[in-house]
Amino acid sequence: MDNRIQTDLRSRPLMGIGTPAVGGHLYGLRSIGEEFQMDVPVSRLRTADGKFFTIRPPDVTERDRVQEERNAFAMAANAILEEEKARVARELHDDLAQSLTALKMDTIWVRDNAAIAPEAAVAKLTNMLETLDRTIGATRRIAADLRPLLLDDLGLVPAIEWLVGNFTQRCGVACKLSVDEELELQEPYATAVFRIVQESLANVAKHAGASEVAVVIDKVPRAVMLTVRDNGCGFVTAVPRKPQSLGLMGLRERAQLLGGSIAINSALGHGTLVEMYIPLPQSGVPE
Ligand SMILES: Nc1ncnc2c1ncn2[C@@H]1O[C@H](COP(=O)(O)OP(=O)(O)O)[C@@H](O)[C@H]1O
Ligand SMILES: [Mg+2]
Repeated sequence: MDNRIQTDLRSRPLMGIGTPAVGGHLYGLRSIGEEFQMDVPVSRLRTADGKFFTIRPPDVTERDRVQEERNAFAMAANAILEEEKARVARELHDDLAQSLTALKMDTIWVRDNAAIAPEAAVAKLTNMLETLDRTIGATRRIAADLRPLLLDDLGLVPAIEWLVGNFTQRCGVACKLSVDEELELQEPYATAVFRIVQESLANVAKHAGASEVAVVIDKVPRAVMLTVRDNGCGFVTAVPRKPQSLGLMGLRERAQLLGGSIAINSALGHGTLVEMYIPLPQSGVPE
């Protein structure tokens, strides 16, 4: 594509007469005759001496910083995904495949010896049952790591109640949950709400040193709102995040992917408030 342009100011969307007008954009012409809009706002000023066009090149520092942060996040998230796949592969190999191999060898032994050594065969079968129980446990654990099965098994509200109960049990911090028992959300909204509560509570457990936490989930017409507030140490949100800190960034990405937003309010000594707003579709199709 030829990016050299013939600067060609069109009188099209320029607005206002006499005073500097805002809202116009500069149009360029490619050498092949195509017109394209440039990201350069133009103002027009009419004076006694004629028309003047003022170009206000945008300051792209912030845009570039956000883009750089997004790229870094995408790379780090990808690395984590690969690491996670390697871990699951290792667990499948070490836990499941090895247990199944042992069970296969034991089964062969029982087949070949049950008639001649029935007592030893019963003892072997008892061991095999234990191995089977461990293997079932390992399978459940690996699957639960991959996806919050609780959500499928229990539904959103009981799954969140479980998260909150588990949080209090693990770190001894009281957590008040306010949610309509009847709340139901379809996917991917239910998983997003679950993951956001999960990460926010993990942050409280890890960083806040709080004595109280409150989780509120509200479904209003056409949107779901979620807040997680703690009374812990708080932090300075303006400080650039550590490269390995992906939790809050992940929350933001998750909400944005669903057309929503997240606000994180925190100040040293004044606790932290995570607020999320996600618009819900009318018909089941994400907006
Ligand atoms: N509830 C909280 N209370 C105090 N500090 C917090 C809280 N949540 C997040 N932080 C701060 O923000 C940083 C970034 O959080 P996050 O992106 O989740 O990464 P990580 O938890 O892996 O450090 C944390 O390291 C911590 O300093
Ligand atoms: Mg975190």
